[in-house]
Amino acid sequence: MMLDGRTAIIYGGGGSIGGAIARAYAAQGARVFLAGRTRATLAAVAGPIGAEIAEVDALDEGAVDAHADEVAAATGGLDISVNVIADSDVQGTAMVDMPVEDYLSPVVTSVRSKFLTARAAARHMKPRRSGVILTFGGSGDRTAAGRYLLGGLVTGFEAIEAMRRQLATELGPYGIRVLTLQTGGVPEAIPAAFEGRAAIEAELTGQTLLGRTATLTDVGHVAVFAASDWARTLTGAALNMTCGAVLD
Ligand SMILES: NC(=O)c1ccc[n+]([C@@H]2O[C@H](COP(=O)([O-])OP(=O)(O)OC[C@H]3O[C@@H](n4cnc5c(N)ncnc54)[C@H](OP(=O)(O)O)[C@@H]3O)[C@@H](O)[C@H]2O)c1
Repeated sequence: MMLDGRTAIIYGGGGSIGGAIARAYAAQGARVFLAGRTRATLAAVAGPIGAEIAEVDALDEGAVDAHADEVAAATGGLDISVNVIADSDVQGTAMVDMPVEDYLSPVVTSVRSKFLTARAAARHMKPRRSGVILTFGGSGDRTAAGRYLLGGLVTGFEAIEAMRRQLATELGPYGIRVLTLQTGGVPEAIPAAFEGRAAIEAELTGQTLLGRTATLTDVGHVAVFAASDWARTLTGAALNMTCGAVLD
């Protein structure tokens, strides 16, 4: 299997994307640790795949460091760190009408949590001279934030692309790879009961070249590939799985 013997922490592992990655990692032989703030949602993902769970706020420096230390001590080392927590965004208001706190909220949560989880992972990976750090990244479509009134969400994503380049540069000499994922929107992740889901799915599909959007299973497959030795040549890169909605 592609991730046999690997240890992975997935922050946001109780969510749609995190759960999909957790299932894919477990299916490929990884030992999976799910971190999030809500035990019930973590347990629902963990149960069927035998993952371990911990209540960890990914914005809490002490909690992130302590959990990474525990996982590394229990397993002998950390191989893969994935941060796909939901950023606290405020959408639907034009920038000109937006309080500064609302604009900055997704930027601050995204940068803070991804810095903390990447730093915790890198501190364990560096002495072993290997590891993979994976998270979500940029918008690609430079006008989307304005068209959809996404507030500071895309500013946060773009900041993570800058972080990805810097981390990859600093950590490459230690054999640690740093990658971002870009899906362009996964309709399956929208709650089935949400009234506008069909319209959003149609719009997202219409933007692609392939006439389909990424599924949660697709995200899991790409995340497995990214973390595996098959991707050993890839670092500092953004993995575009937008089905052609965004052209690099
Ligand atoms: N779904 C998509 O189409 C899509 C596309 C591109 C990018 N993304 C990005 O992928 C990420 C996840 O999306 P999703 O659809 O999986 O969202 P989701 O289903 O809402 O899951 C997000 C998870 O993040 C956890 N979380 C939030 N704040 C946290 C914190 N401070 N500490 C630890 N865990 C925290 C939540 O659990 P608790 O609240 O219990 O902690 C939740 O389980 C988001 O950043 C999103 O922007 C999603």
